[in-house]
Amino acid sequence: MQDTQPQTIFLKDYQVPDYLIDRTDLTFDLDPQATLVKSRLQVRRNPAADASGDLPPLWLDGVDLELLSVAVDGELLPAQRYSEQTDGLLLTVDKESFVLEVQTRIAPESNTSLEGLYLSNGMYCTQCEAEGFRKITFYPDRPDVMSVFTTTIVAPATYPVLLSNGNKIDSGTTEDGRLCVTWEDPFAKPSYLFALVAGDLQFVEDHFTTSSGRKVTLQLFTEPKNIGKTAHAMESLKKSMKWDEEVYGREYDLDIFMIVAVDHFNMGAMENKGLNIFNSACVLASPETATDAAFQRIEAIVAHEYFHNWSGNRVTCRDWFQLSLKEGFTVFRDAEFSADMNSRGVKRIEDVTLLRTAQFAEDAGPMSHPVRPDSYMEISNFYTLTVYEKGAEVVRMIHRLLGAEAFRRGSDLYFERHDGCAVTCEDFVAAMEDANGADLTLFRRWYSQGGTPVLDVEDKYDAEAQEYHLTIRQHTPDTPGQTDKQPLHMPIAVSLLGADGRELSLDQEASIERVLHLTEATQTFTFADIPERPLPSLLRGFSAPVKLRYRYTSDQLLFLMQYDTDSFNRWDASQRLAFEALEQLQRAYRAGGEMQAPEALLQGLSAVLENTQLDPALVAKMLTLPSPQELAEHGDAIDAQAIVAARVFVRDSIAKALASRFLKRYQSLDQRKPYQPVAEDIAERSLKNTCLSYLCATGSADALALAESQFMRKENMTDVAAALAALIEFGPADQAEEHLESFYQQWQQDTQVVETWFGLQAGSANYGTLGRVRELMSHPAFEFTNPNKVRAVVGGFAMRNFAQFHQEDGTGYEFLAEQVIALDKLNPQIAARIVTPLTRWRKYRTLEAEQIRSALQRVSDSGELSRDLYEVVSKALE
Ligand code: PHE
Ligand code: ZN
Repeated sequence: MQDTQPQTIFLKDYQVPDYLIDRTDLTFDLDPQATLVKSRLQVRRNPAADASGDLPPLWLDGVDLELLSVAVDGELLPAQRYSEQTDGLLLTVDKESFVLEVQTRIAPESNTSLEGLYLSNGMYCTQCEAEGFRKITFYPDRPDVMSVFTTTIVAPATYPVLLSNGNKIDSGTTEDGRLCVTWEDPFAKPSYLFALVAGDLQFVEDHFTTSSGRKVTLQLFTEPKNIGKTAHAMESLKKSMKWDEEVYGREYDLDIFMIVAVDHFNMGAMENKGLNIFNSACVLASPETATDAAFQRIEAIVAHEYFHNWSGNRVTCRDWFQLSLKEGFTVFRDAEFSADMNSRGVKRIEDVTLLRTAQFAEDAGPMSHPVRPDSYMEISNFYTLTVYEKGAEVVRMIHRLLGAEAFRRGSDLYFERHDGCAVTCEDFVAAMEDANGADLTLFRRWYSQGGTPVLDVEDKYDAEAQEYHLTIRQHTPDTPGQTDKQPLHMPIAVSLLGADGRELSLDQEASIERVLHLTEATQTFTFADIPERPLPSLLRGFSAPVKLRYRYTSDQLLFLMQYDTDSFNRWDASQRLAFEALEQLQRAYRAGGEMQAPEALLQGLSAVLENTQLDPALVAKMLTLPSPQELAEHGDAIDAQAIVAARVFVRDSIAKALASRFLKRYQSLDQRKPYQPVAEDIAERSLKNTCLSYLCATGSADALALAESQFMRKENMTDVAAALAALIEFGPADQAEEHLESFYQQWQQDTQVVETWFGLQAGSANYGTLGRVRELMSHPAFEFTNPNKVRAVVGGFAMRNFAQFHQEDGTGYEFLAEQVIALDKLNPQIAARIVTPLTRWRKYRTLEAEQIRSALQRVSDSGELSRDLYEVVSKALE
């Protein structure tokens, strides 16, 4: 917690470090309340820094540390040579290079922020990105200071597994019977990639032989009870290693690669060099305990962290403003990997849904920032959808504009030029240009300009000239601190459909798709030799992260749903139809008028459901209505009740109108086969469970009996959880209670399943009332210091339970404020994230806006806030 108002840090103020650290030798003597940390740093004046005048003082970051001693070249430093400040240590320096030894004491057991060194279920672990290393020892904790590390860990024999980065070079026992292990990481790295783990852990081991023939040992560590849930992550790791060799030519570089699962973790996982640390929920799975979604998430995150070994570790960020350099690129890499392993079209739909729901909302909210922010108060607040997902879209556009081969030439040059260095987004773009003689001058604006561009498209067909003209106008709305946006360079992939539903060939070429380079505020593109008035399929594959407006009629959308060969656009047509219907119904609801069944949508979905040629996963996606959160992003002066009412009405209309088709499809897909988390089976289960949910929405006893039987059969967690969700959402309350209870009884020992169980209830529109959520928080399995549990219950309610959170009396908002205030004392990062729904108050109509704002004000007035929470709350109240 800060005592003065937090300062804003600006990209424009960047300066190279005054000193470099050539070697870092650390020794940890582990103890829950008094861990002794000794550091020995080989310090050298940075030749790239300003050399005029006297030697500048050396600044070392340090937070919540007890300083025991400081020595230079073996001599204890007198007190007048250094000054200890709340966030670090300032040393007077009298030579160009020297050895600095510092001893500090820390208390991992009291560390609930989960940054630095802390305990999770009795296991020691670290989290250093972005600025957690300074909670371990005094150090220049910035990514452009890269050092070789050795780490010695001393611990009681009750911690038989002692891990750190790199290769193990020594191990033994001390005189008093404690264990002692030394690790050496030969690759210079910034402090944020440091890791240490100590515990009573078990591991599974496998191997991977790299393309140049080196054998790498792979180990995955867990608490003993979870050792049976490691197989999927290990398989995913091997697939990732192979894919990165094939697609990017990147080989692994150490002899060992380790993954550790921990229950208490703020994020998904962390790419520490050679020693990835994972949130248990993002690595542990078995068919009985994990859903398909969890299996796919694990595959993606294992890949993501592994890919960071090159895009992040070998080539890292100069400063934290460049975060998207590693995150945007690595998300793009993991998305392509997942697309190759599973259904490409469905992966794209899922990613775009997330972008449109959450990133677009971020772009339009008080924390809006460009992919490369130019200022921040607390960097932890910038691990955002904009930096990650929009950053990935920006890399994807480069891929689209240059083509796959040119992109690979660019990435090869990037890795070769900058291996072992800390670089910038600009360096990435420059490598892409230089490798291909390309010009991305204009394209660079994507990094510095925030906000979601809106494209308005109009067309004209000239029958006489046989020409078709598309006019595209782009504009980007103002965002906090950024007005008068410039036009952006973006690829717009287009096809033209003829009356028979087939794509016309374009420009006398065999190709049926053209990628337009939009660079101006308004631009007209002409297609020659077009024999009939076509229907445009625009922005195929979502080729740019924008909102595209074109006046499609309902008939045209039905046509695209039937014929578009781009599965993304086919799905998008169904979403446009649904949006239209839902918006009309919201208006009717507000006006107190009658709600009319959405005929066009029903007609389209009915045809889709009949079409057994289509990928069942795509059918399931088309049948899924935009979430209330996505509808809220679309609207302004939002009336939450109207959104809920319109959506329930459309859902029930679909359920009723297509009931017999849902039943037919459910039955044909309900084949019992052994569980495998492969694309084809996942697709079938997703459609089957979508049908089940609609069937149950009618409340019919037969449908609920189907769900009950699926629940009782316990074939795999995907089917069990889907059945349970339908039962608690649509079934009688007393039965829901029974099922929930029996489920809990069976799974209470399994942390991941208990999290699922919490999340199902808190996120249920019917069941997850505020009263229920409060009960869940006093359940013995609930833990306020565990982010996963908090996210399941508090997050499930505030972020995924639109209907209950927005209850008209405003108690949902008050509840969230209360939790945020309490959380901030324990874990500021989680507090600053979970407060998000309250920061969007401006989007709502007066009634809700006032309620939400006053809840936020209450947080602001509650006393001293952490820097994390202060930044988010103060920006939202501005
Ligand atoms: N760098 C991690 C990733 O994206 C995310 C992370 C950030 C984890 C900060 C912990 C703390 O893979
Ligand atoms: Zn990452």
